[in-house]
Amino acid sequence: AANTMWGGRFAVGPDEAMERINASIDFDRRFYREDIAASQAHAAMLVAQGIISAEDGDAIHRGLEQVLQEIESGTFAFSAALEDIHMNVEARLAELIGTPAGRLHTARSRNDQVATDFRLWLRGAVDALDAQVRDLQAALIGQAEAEAATIMPGYTHLQAAQPVTFGHHLLAYVEMLGRDRGRLTDCRKRINESPLGAAALAGTSFPIDRHATAAALRFERPLANSLDAVSARDFAIEFLAAGSILAVHLSRLAEELVLWCSQGFAFVTLSDAFTTGSSIMPQKKNPDAAELVRGKAGRVIGALTTLLVVIKGLPMAYGKDMQEDKEPVFEAADTLGLCLLAMTGMIRDLKADRAAMAAACSSGFLTATDLADWLVRAAGLPFREAHHVTGRLVKLAEDGGCDLADLSLEQMQAVDGRITDDVFSVLTVERATASRSSFGGTAPAQVRAAATQARERFL
Ligand code: ARG
Repeated sequence: AANTMWGGRFAVGPDEAMERINASIDFDRRFYREDIAASQAHAAMLVAQGIISAEDGDAIHRGLEQVLQEIESGTFAFSAALEDIHMNVEARLAELIGTPAGRLHTARSRNDQVATDFRLWLRGAVDALDAQVRDLQAALIGQAEAEAATIMPGYTHLQAAQPVTFGHHLLAYVEMLGRDRGRLTDCRKRINESPLGAAALAGTSFPIDRHATAAALRFERPLANSLDAVSARDFAIEFLAAGSILAVHLSRLAEELVLWCSQGFAFVTLSDAFTTGSSIMPQKKNPDAAELVRGKAGRVIGALTTLLVVIKGLPMAYGKDMQEDKEPVFEAADTLGLCLLAMTGMIRDLKADRAAMAAACSSGFLTATDLADWLVRAAGLPFREAHHVTGRLVKLAEDGGCDLADLSLEQMQAVDGRITDDVFSVLTVERATASRSSFGGTAPAQVRAAATQARERFL
């Protein structure tokens, strides 16, 4: 049978493959609430502008309320033959209220309708993700406060470099996540503009009020150009770009958790609730959740690539290719939401092993820079010379299988006669971290202050 929406010019209905490739209802049904809200705003505007009668507007409003209730209670029968959420809702509305349902689509097209629904949905998703990132920041700040004076090796090239505090390390992620939230907030501004009333592509001859529907749906303003309104998808690409950066940050943190709970580091213990055992090796406790956060970043980055490629060759205005815009965005939003949930739980529950971190500080000559700095400050050597002298002392300690602080004063003076007993005061990791009290540095006092500031800035 020919289509009920446009059957006028069609002799036969679609092939089965056509129906399958064409239908989006399996995924765009997620827009049902936004679709109904947008239709109600549109109908109210049509009434206010004298384009449809108040009685019809009333019937449409109440009919849509019933459709909403049917969908929410699970009694609504979605149909692939009706292609998408827009036509499913409208067809049911027609069954419920008859003729007035046919007036709802006046001065509207599915092209502005779908863009409107998508923007409304994504606005809500961005707000939900922002709250979840904030929860993760709260968990990180809580741990940072507890571990503000916990000393661990800091690394560059994954080689032991200088001691840092665990709290300082965690607060680095709070900063990254803060910028992620900034990107989400910024992209929300460009999501939050209304395409409704752009109609198919060119606007409409009916005397509509796009400002009124934009305001009713809490959009900042109507989009200025009707062609742009129906065919722009940069708002979704931008969300995926911001989401990809967020996913990369989560993945880096996940990778650190995987490293830290491995036997080579043993810096943290993850809770049983976020790890798994092995079916063969009884001793195992694997960081699966962290590995999956790391792995799932691939999906989000893939979603960004997908949408960029879908859009890159499309002439204006709407093309059906654009129906492919939703699944990557849903996938990315869902994946990010789940990863944030798991990461927040892992961080909240993790136990830092302070003794293991302290033990790791006894190798790697973490205070070598402090020794060189002492030679500059106390013995007046130029830094390059101090660097060379320290290098020789490191070699001496390495050959002796000991730490710098374990060398005797005599051994040190044999390398450079200007070294005095005072040098030992800078060779502890406590002293090394406490001395790095410059703004943004790792000194415990700085970390405590930074955590307090972070609470004010982000929570
Ligand atoms: N299901 C379509 C989509 O997701 C809705 C818009 C269809 N418009 C059209 N002219 N075929 O993009």
